[in-house]
Amino acid sequence: KGDPRLQGISNAIRVVPHFPKPGIMFQDITTLLLNHKAFKDAVDIFVDRYRHMNISVVAGVEARGFMFGPSIALAIGAKFVPLSKPGTLPDNAMMCVQNHFPSPYFGEQIGTVEKNRLLLDKSYSTVSKLPSEVISEDYVLEYGTDRLEMHVNAVLPGERALVFDDLVATGGTLSAAIRLLERAGAEVVECACVIGLPVVEEQCRLNGKPLYILVEPR
Ligand code: PRP
Repeated sequence: KGDPRLQGISNAIRVVPHFPKPGIMFQDITTLLLNHKAFKDAVDIFVDRYRHMNISVVAGVEARGFMFGPSIALAIGAKFVPLSKPGTLPDNAMMCVQNHFPSPYFGEQIGTVEKNRLLLDKSYSTVSKLPSEVISEDYVLEYGTDRLEMHVNAVLPGERALVFDDLVATGGTLSAAIRLLERAGAEVVECACVIGLPVVEEQCRLNGKPLYILVEPR
């Protein structure tokens, strides 16, 4: 903290009011990625912090954790592991059900259509974006739940992991990420985000793991 590069990093983040829902001040890091100096400064700060911590895996949270994690992983000599949020069904799901085609994802019927609405059988409500076998962790959001998935055997027992995301709000996502890595036998050394409130950094109890944040929300 007190690093002169932090102001430039903060200034490069764009705030988009009322996205994706009314009332949310969306912290858009794509403008940070457009600014070579600010992007490099951010990656450099993380790399300097983690290069000598014997970290063998950087686990990045979809989607924006994917935009920083691999650069940090390469620079500190670690591998990168994606933690995916499940997707929604493709646009052609309705057409498949209507025509009694098997779903391209599941190879079988995934539901029925009633009054032009697609009623999915329960187990088909979300689609994994990871192609091979996964382990998953569900977590609670303000409205409903979400899930993180990781390929089995991507992380090996005893590995030292850094969990990375663009932003922390409640810490629910990072907590689920920690549980996932610990179930795979890894030791989570720290969680890191570009954006978060200092109070979250102090008070957020991420299963006892430390949290490192670069800048506050704008
Ligand atoms: C944002 C952000 C984190 C999560 C943090 O993702 O990128 O992953 O919220 O929130 P939490 O600390 O309260 O768990 P978002 O919900 O916007 O999903 P997206 O990656 O699909 O855009």
